[in-house]
Amino acid sequence: MRIYKAKDYNDLSRKAANIISAQIIMKPDAVIGLATGASPIGTYKQLIEWYNKGDLDFSEIRTVNLDEYKGLSPDDVQSYAYFMKTNLLSHVNILPENANIPNGLEEDPEVECKRYDKVLHSMGGIDLQLLGIGGNGHIGFNEPGNNFDKETHCVTLTEATIDANARFFESRDDVPKYAYTMGIKNIMQAKSILLIASGEEKAQALYDSFYGPITPNVPGSILQIHNHVTVVADEAALSLILKEHEITTGGHVL
Ligand code: F6R
Repeated sequence: MRIYKAKDYNDLSRKAANIISAQIIMKPDAVIGLATGASPIGTYKQLIEWYNKGDLDFSEIRTVNLDEYKGLSPDDVQSYAYFMKTNLLSHVNILPENANIPNGLEEDPEVECKRYDKVLHSMGGIDLQLLGIGGNGHIGFNEPGNNFDKETHCVTLTEATIDANARFFESRDDVPKYAYTMGIKNIMQAKSILLIASGEEKAQALYDSFYGPITPNVPGSILQIHNHVTVVADEAALSLILKEHEITTGGHVL
């Protein structure tokens, strides 16, 4: 595992986009796992810029998103499908049939989780999975205490995650209570993982994930046993780690 220090959010976004574009150039038909939230917005902007310049081609790329709120339609502005459309998919040449995301409108969790796992298995593995991390250490919507060996499943969001996501909704009451998410098992099966984190509110989660014990109480800590993880984080998110470890431009190897 290697941790890279970015000066700020812009620098982080450029570094992350560089890693994703290297993957796309090396394997034009790669399967890329995507995340939503505030962290990857700058990364997606950078990828769009390079696409517009003619430097990137997504025509053979297949994407799989980590998660979706249960109960929201793809047209709902709060859905992750809508987020992906507006922040990446409608701006680059990823074919609609190659972009996958859990179906928030499927009411039966068993049906949807089975369907999504089938999609994931049929792709022959995710080449690069982009991840953000929650302030409580969650990855995808795998909340603290969640079993490490789950595949796609339906989760009840914790109060902490509802609080954190309320900023995107008109009121806290509008935040859905359930979500479909890839499980830790799906995430760990990715051939490589790129985790990005920005801001001081991620400092504890990053420290605990990479320097603490491996425990379901900190879902991100499972990444310590994955053999190809790259972390790109800004100085604020790394603040606790930087108190104990120096991170040079070549990155810090764990
Ligand atoms: C999003 C996701 C979440 C976020 C995490 C961080 O698809 O799976 O785990 O990555 O909640 O969110 P932000 O980036 O908004 O701080």
